[in-house]
Amino acid sequence: MILVTGAAGKTGRVVIRALAGKKQSVRALVRRKQQVEEVQAIGATEAVVGDLLDESLLQQAARGVHAVYHICPNVHPDEIAMGKVSIAAAVSAGVKHFVFHSVLRPQIEAMPHHWRKMRVEEALFASGLPFTVLQPASYMQNILAEWDGVVERGVLAAPYSVQSQSSPVDLQDVAATAVIVLCEPGHHGAIYELCGPEVLNQSELATIISAHVGHAVRAEQTGLGEWVRRARADGLGEYALETLRKMFCYYDQYGFWGNSHTLHALLGRRPTSYDAFVKRVLREKRLTRAH
Ligand SMILES: NC(=O)c1ccc[n+]([C@@H]2O[C@H](COP(=O)([O-])OP(=O)(O)OC[C@H]3O[C@@H](n4cnc5c(N)ncnc54)[C@H](OP(=O)(O)O)[C@@H]3O)[C@@H](O)[C@H]2O)c1
Repeated sequence: MILVTGAAGKTGRVVIRALAGKKQSVRALVRRKQQVEEVQAIGATEAVVGDLLDESLLQQAARGVHAVYHICPNVHPDEIAMGKVSIAAAVSAGVKHFVFHSVLRPQIEAMPHHWRKMRVEEALFASGLPFTVLQPASYMQNILAEWDGVVERGVLAAPYSVQSQSSPVDLQDVAATAVIVLCEPGHHGAIYELCGPEVLNQSELATIISAHVGHAVRAEQTGLGEWVRRARADGLGEYALETLRKMFCYYDQYGFWGNSHTLHALLGRRPTSYDAFVKRVLREKRLTRAH
């Protein structure tokens, strides 16, 4: 049995599907009761409901599992405490392997959610648990929330330079790697950077989308102040606003990219290209419309 935390989120769902596809038993930790059926529908064997800061809940959730796959909620102010609670629960339950879903470049202090992940990695090293750390770059899938608007308006907008480079990774490749490190021997003590196979700027990403949607899509830099105003009006909390503002400033100045050799070696094939990802999104959209 593998305990997956943050299980009902963007990452958790894809990881559960991938583990279920390999016939692994998964106990999913979700925040809300309504999410129990949702995670069971995608392959979780069991679910536990509650808060990642609840020590006794985590102790109970870790009982009888051989591995923990810890996913912290995105941009959460308590991610260090949540990591430590999960690690402590794994230690007291005698868990044999703790896999931490971290992020590419946790060393970057200018991005608080990266820096906090490094503190969790540090606590994991000190715990004595056999561990593996996965450090994914930003997901290709992050665009999906705004995909229809991007295609309709022909504009890929972001509050940082159109020249800013990234190496987006397919979340499905990340989940496939999670399965590999959880189910195959030889990954204890490893820290793996997981990056897509290309380093592309916003304009190049837009050009790839254009090639498949049948009309021009251009990259555009929007004002950061405007982004903050809109996100605040949409109800985003102050910690997340400030953290994401700092992240966009970092992207604007330095980009956020890495090298895909590690992911290639782990998968035993070239990681998914942005071109292949866009084709898959369009194919899935066509299938959804047809049904
Ligand atoms: N997005 C990327 O490109 C990327 C790249 C690399 C690493 N990461 C990292 O991946 C991690 C997961 O990101 P994600 O986008 O999958 O997260 P997400 O969609 O925000 O999912 C987090 C899940 O945790 C739940 N949750 C929130 N607060 C909780 C609490 N106090 N107790 C228990 N559960 C709680 C949420 O519940 P609700 O559904 O009720 O909100 C949600 O289901 C983050 O740490 C992020 O930094 C992301």
